[in-house]
Amino acid sequence: MRNYSKLIVFYFSGTGNAKKAAEWIVKSAVEKGFQTELINIDHYKIDEKSLFNEQTLIGFCSPTHGFNLPPIMLQFIFQFPKSKGANVFLLNTRAGMKLYKLFLPGLSGIAQYFPALMLRLKGYRIVGMQPMDLPSNWISIHPGLKQKVVDSIFFRCKKIALRFADKILSGKKVYTAFWSLPFDLAIAPISLGYYLIGRFAIAKTFVANQNCNQCGLCVKNCPVNAIKMIDNRPFWTFDCESCMHCMNHCPKRSIETAFGFTVILWWAVFSIIPFFALKIMLDKQIFPIHSNSIWAELIYLFFQSIVALLIIYGAYRLLHFLMKFSFFNKIITNTSLSHYKFWRRYKAPKDF
Ligand SMILES: Cc1cc2nc3c(=O)[nH]c(=O)nc-3n(C[C@H](O)[C@H](O)[C@H](O)COP(=O)(O)O)c2cc1C
Repeated sequence: MRNYSKLIVFYFSGTGNAKKAAEWIVKSAVEKGFQTELINIDHYKIDEKSLFNEQTLIGFCSPTHGFNLPPIMLQFIFQFPKSKGANVFLLNTRAGMKLYKLFLPGLSGIAQYFPALMLRLKGYRIVGMQPMDLPSNWISIHPGLKQKVVDSIFFRCKKIALRFADKILSGKKVYTAFWSLPFDLAIAPISLGYYLIGRFAIAKTFVANQNCNQCGLCVKNCPVNAIKMIDNRPFWTFDCESCMHCMNHCPKRSIETAFGFTVILWWAVFSIIPFFALKIMLDKQIFPIHSNSIWAELIYLFFQSIVALLIIYGAYRLLHFLMKFSFFNKIITNTSLSHYKFWRRYKAPKDF
């Protein structure tokens, strides 16, 4: 059992879930008389010379993205100073859902183990690993949950967070993540695919419809500065982490996921084009596809992904240009499910 006197929590949050979880833990620490700091890592520069002593407990709260932590949090942890045995905990918020009365968990993949390994190698002691199934905010793939469901998930998670805070602040170790280890490891390769390709492709699915009044809030408030105004319309660069902040906070509800465009483009890029590319490579014997080596397969997959991303980038630039024509803008908007009223937006509720 350890005695802490100070708690520092670093968090990243797209739509407020991880921030809320961090606030619950910090509030609990304040009530227990701890000195506390709550730090949003957007635009925060960690001093690599910082030293943390054994009386300080450090927490990292972040959403789970593609079965891992988002790159901004991974980079932050990567740059975090080394330590000689300071104590840390990791809390990853996941896509919680609710089916009738049943609360369904999200999936962590390596969102706990990978950062834990990085921190361990830096000399930290991992004293807590806690996933938290707050409402799913991934409204690129499903509508936001109903308010009633959001509230009941929050009610449940607040209790879990406070229980976790009580234990961890009193010096106990809490590892809630381990029961799902075999499953998390089985889906780990998907997290690599998401990190190397998926996140870049998803960044190129966002568009602004004709409601956009160029207020620039999406550009100003993007946690990773990934949106630029080009020709008076927001343009999502490859830096986008798909954290869903912009789409959920646009006051004009003008940011859409261009579903129609994306389905056709991805179908072409990931199935038709690779088929022809493979045929040409085989006919012309450009690449040793037939060698049964796993390396040949991987190198082919790598080139295929680069080509796919280049095509997606080109198509997205063209899309962005064409969106200035009202007729085209309407086609793209009306073929986006996110345009319709039933496709709710999501923000973490304030009153919890
Ligand atoms: C791009 C993206 C990828 C996601 N991937 C996962 C995932 O792999 N597993 C999971 O359980 N939830 C996943 N989610 C859901 C979020 O992790 C979850 O809703 C989280 O609580 C959001 O936290 P935030 O509001 O602090 O951003 C994903 C969400 C987004 C936007």
